[in-house]
Amino acid sequence: MDINIAGAKNKINEIGFLDIDVDPELDLFHEIEILKKEKNAIVLAHYYQEPDIQDVADYIGDSLGLAQQAAMTNAGMIVFAGVNFMAETAKILNHSKKVLLPDLKAGCSLADSAPADLFKRFKDKYADHIVISYINCSADIKALSDIICTSSNAKAIIESVPREQPIIFAPDKNLGAYLNKQTGRNMVLWNGACMVHEIFSLEKITKLKMRNPGAKLIAHPECEEAVLRIADYIGSTTQLLNYAVTDSCNEFIVATETGILHQMQKDAPGKTFIPAPPNNSCACNDCPHMKLNTLEKLYLCMQYETPEITMDEGLRLAALKPMERMMQISKAAGLIK
Ligand code: 13P
Ligand code: SF4
Repeated sequence: MDINIAGAKNKINEIGFLDIDVDPELDLFHEIEILKKEKNAIVLAHYYQEPDIQDVADYIGDSLGLAQQAAMTNAGMIVFAGVNFMAETAKILNHSKKVLLPDLKAGCSLADSAPADLFKRFKDKYADHIVISYINCSADIKALSDIICTSSNAKAIIESVPREQPIIFAPDKNLGAYLNKQTGRNMVLWNGACMVHEIFSLEKITKLKMRNPGAKLIAHPECEEAVLRIADYIGSTTQLLNYAVTDSCNEFIVATETGILHQMQKDAPGKTFIPAPPNNSCACNDCPHMKLNTLEKLYLCMQYETPEITMDEGLRLAALKPMERMMQISKAAGLIK
């Protein structure tokens, strides 16, 4: 297939990715390594990506780790194997780099649950509140926020705000409710949720626990309160991984997106990890947005340098301010170097 980079950019249409046939004989792992060197590119991947993408990535992490890597990389090109808000975050933090996302349609139900115009009206009703937004939101929502947080630093971020200062927390109501409990605050919550973490079945998890009495339930704080209440440990994806590897228990029921099981199995091969069942006929819980990225799309986007994340500079600077605040507080709390 003979098309150049400009031609490839024109081909990105409604579908959001390069629909070009890839030779099935190609060793994509090898080809991607060559492209990394040729283009001075770094591949950053979230734990919810498919195993092949995790295996080819230079760095795999949670949202805080990925943001930090994106901010400090010397590579000329950041290839973000994750979803749109994550690639946008990389662009906000490191705008001189070319940031690529294998499939532009890789969105996020949680980010989509907070449209900027509606959120602005909501915010205007609470003039004396500051806004802390979970990083799983659009650049427009970040620009309307005072501080950003992730699931691994949210408690420290909230605790850095004086107790008498009222707070709006957006967009995840489950994480917000969990943090209200953890910090003893009464933050006003935006009514958003993640489609993946909201559909775990309490009934099926309870039965699974009964069938596996030695297993610990570990859960992401985006899960609903009823699931969190029976969890043995709650944390971000990196925190869940670290806990599963270091804890003396050998069996875990994992209530988050199934992609994380790949690293858990790699890092603790002798242990058993059981995906927590959702409230539908599936046995495990995949994020349809995260799973839009494939190794083929990753290879094509590196070769043709598209789809690329671009952003209005005024919006980028407005979104950067609360991101920098998050980084400062996380450093002061010793959560990042
Ligand atoms: P973390 O990896 O930061 O825990 O976030 C989970 C998530 O839902 C990402 O979309
Ligand atoms: Fe968004 Fe949930 Fe998918 Fe994460 S798992 S990208 S929060 S829909």
